[in-house]
Amino acid sequence: KNIALVAGGYSGEYVISVKSAAVIEKHLDSSKYNVYKISVTHDGWNYTGPDGQLIAVDKNDFTLTISGNKIIFDAVFIGIHGTPGEDGRLQGYFEMLGIPFTSCGMVTSALTFNKSYCNKVVASLGVVNVSKSVHIFKDQPFDTNAILQELALPVFVKPAEGGSSIGMSKVNTAEELAPAIEKAFNEDVQILIEEFVKGREITCGLYKSNGQFTVLPVTEIISSKEFFDYEAKYTPGISREVTPAEAPDEVVALIQETAKKLYNKLNCRGIVRMDFIWEEAKNRLFFLEVNTMPGQSENSIVPQQVRAAGMTLQEFYGTLIEECLR
Ligand code: DAL
Ligand code: MG
Repeated sequence: KNIALVAGGYSGEYVISVKSAAVIEKHLDSSKYNVYKISVTHDGWNYTGPDGQLIAVDKNDFTLTISGNKIIFDAVFIGIHGTPGEDGRLQGYFEMLGIPFTSCGMVTSALTFNKSYCNKVVASLGVVNVSKSVHIFKDQPFDTNAILQELALPVFVKPAEGGSSIGMSKVNTAEELAPAIEKAFNEDVQILIEEFVKGREITCGLYKSNGQFTVLPVTEIISSKEFFDYEAKYTPGISREVTPAEAPDEVVALIQETAKKLYNKLNCRGIVRMDFIWEEAKNRLFFLEVNTMPGQSENSIVPQQVRAAGMTLQEFYGTLIEECLR
């Protein structure tokens, strides 16, 4: 089978995407799959040929011609975080071309990639608490005082469409709000301002194969920084990730059941990681976000969960490919 592994992307998560794609490439079974890693950047969509020459993909049909041989792909392994691999853009393109791919489809990817719209949809499903938030746009007037009346501090300010906490701040005092908004607007034209929920961050990876769920052991993230920001996410030692999480069995079960419900109701496909806050004091579960292209780097959470489940990454990535080919 010819598999295209798309890597890179156009966002601030480029570096993480490259690391994730390297892990995926290393663990794809080369006896089953001919893997062609294709770098998708603003400079082009290119495969690096045997002599180091760049070979551009034909975007009309997503094929590669190498030494006169045209390679048609049986499936695409999406290895890009952020745009255009996680926000529905490549998904729509591959859906148009009829090429199977490993992630959620276009609509689910686009919806879940926008934290504001996703929060509204998830809240309407009634399966998990969603913290109170305000959605503002760069080109529309907004009033920070009105926001502070509506939401209780502390709040998180997040670019609506982003990842890896880039452009995100935790705001503890009224004075910090305006600069945090400005910082988030450097990353995106719309932002989400969300009430902070004091609790434990627990995240759950899951996928379906042949109609059956595999829910991976959940991970608790214990960050020694104010929150699990970019540095805490990617600098070993700054945060501690405990898999399986040391939470009561019924809490773990609630998280896993909630993740399954959301997966179904949002029409997810492939591996998805859902992040939650468990407000221990009141025993309430809050939704944080859905990641339809969860990190796969050596330090990322899903690979840890896969290993904790007693699986190899080779089996796991193979299952994802076979599922999209089904
Ligand atoms: N956005 C990063 C890659 C994650 O969710 O793991
Ligand atoms: Mg994310």
